Amino acid sequence: MKNILFGITAIALLVACSDEPGSTELVVDLAAGKAIAAADCSDCHGMDGRGETSEIPNLTGQPAEYLIDAMHAYRDGGRQHAALQDMTSDMSEADIANIAGYYSSLPPLTPLSDSVANEASYNEGAAVAAICEECHGEKGISMEEGMPSLAGQQPIYLMIATQEYKTGARGHEGSEDMLEGLEQVDIEKMAMYFASQTPPVRQPPPFGDPVAGKAISASCGKCHGAHGISHDPMVPSLAGQEPVYLVNAIKAYREHERVDEADMPAKTDAQIEDLAAYYSIQKMEASVEGELTGQEMAAKCDRCHSPASGRRKMNVPSLKGQSFEYLVKSMKEYRREDRDNSMMHKMSSRYSDEMIETLAAYYASQSN
Ligand code: HEC
Ligand code: HEC
Ligand code: HEC
Ligand code: HEC
Repeated sequence: MKNILFGITAIALLVACSDEPGSTELVVDLAAGKAIAAADCSDCHGMDGRGETSEIPNLTGQPAEYLIDAMHAYRDGGRQHAALQDMTSDMSEADIANIAGYYSSLPPLTPLSDSVANEASYNEGAAVAAICEECHGEKGISMEEGMPSLAGQQPIYLMIATQEYKTGARGHEGSEDMLEGLEQVDIEKMAMYFASQTPPVRQPPPFGDPVAGKAISASCGKCHGAHGISHDPMVPSLAGQEPVYLVNAIKAYREHERVDEADMPAKTDAQIEDLAAYYSIQKMEASVEGELTGQEMAAKCDRCHSPASGRRKMNVPSLKGQSFEYLVKSMKEYRREDRDNSMMHKMSSRYSDEMIETLAAYYASQSN
């Protein structure tokens, strides 16, 4: 679907899909564009459009209109980059169109990214998670009485708990030393690793009556979700939790050892055992889509970036074959709102660093 008509020295470049209203036709002088590229751009973007370092994006495979928008954004401050702002502030509209036409007319590049980058995934969190697995069980599935499972738990809840352990604000003896030196990103990867596990269903414990427990669980479900699967990032799931831990934790709330939760209704010991029996045998699910590969996650993005019809809107850049580092950096800029685009900000705000890296690794390994 490249609406590019090649000529010898000058080409006519149709910059909008035929299904978009207000199509305009740009006249582009390819030779003039090439001369500017050689003089001003090739040190960084090459004559073939490939970024000389991993921080510099590839320019081939992008629609001319997107490249023009990007240069306007640098010039007008919507995107921050000193060198590009300097360069674009002196360029005429014709120069901008010519250079965009030149780079968008080049053949696609073969990706440099290898399978190693492609493996950046939730599994990276496994190294940090090993610290916790010593007590909380392999993959965070606890088989030890009184020790909570972490598998499938809400990632934000795990991150906050771990940060509080690190500063000593939450008890959990000994974890300050254990967690010393961990960066925020390590904690996030660890939380995503546990959150993406799906533990097997537990056998009923030797105490309590799950049927009776279910009958009195309605008041808990308001916060902890149906069948103990929470959809609130600040409220832990109870499904599949180790039953003795559940008994102890509920009693602790009743005795107000764990403050804040005055709302949690007081219960008798027998009722607490029933509740623990009920919740412990519920099927716990992974709270994040850890098993999704970059390709599966990318399905949401491809709606705009690589539509099945092949008719990508002209203001939407191609992501395939772009460098891994550049993709990660751009997504994080949208997430922080350092790069203007409210729609991409909304999209990216739901993504953790880990998910962004997985998506970037996928796109970096595709040919455009
Ligand atoms: C000093 C190195 C350097 C030079 C010279 C340079 N660029 Fe860039 N260019 C970059 C970097 C780094 C970025 C990524 C900046 C960012 O993160 O927004 C970039 C981004 C771009 C983008 C945005 C691409 C996208 O996918 O959004 C365009 C378009 C672009 N440059 C065009 C040009 C043109 C045209 C020239 C020559 C007139 C040029 N650049 C010269 C380093 C350079
Ligand atoms: C030395 C053993 C040990 C290690 C190692 C350990 N924990 Fe714990 N953890 C416990 C015990 C015991 C409890 C239950 C008592 C309590 O609530 O403090 C617990 C409770 C928890 C809870 C639920 C209670 C709450 O505060 O919400 C979370 C979440 C948790 N641990 C996360 C972690 C994470 C994440 C790691 C690794 C960074 C970790 N733990 C490492 C022993 C350990
Ligand atoms: C008003 C909302 C709310 C209601 C209702 C509520 N909970 Fe909670 N519950 C929470 C929050 C929030 C936490 C996490 C508190 C924290 O960070 O220490 C929590 C924590 C827990 C924990 C500790 C889990 C862990 O992994 O450490 C257990 C067990 C628990 N609740 C059981 C119950 C039961 C049983 C009921 C019903 C009788 C109930 N809760 C009702 C909000 C609620
Ligand atoms: C509804 C359409 C739409 C969806 C869905 C969408 N994007 Fe975008 N994306 C855009 C548009 C439009 C831009 C150009 C914005 C700009 O100029 O900054 C963009 C820009 C980008 C860029 C910057 C590329 C560059 O060359 O600088 C990245 C990276 C990106 N999107 C990644 C994603 C990822 C990953 C997803 C899926 C999680 C996604 N997008 C989903 C429309 C979309």
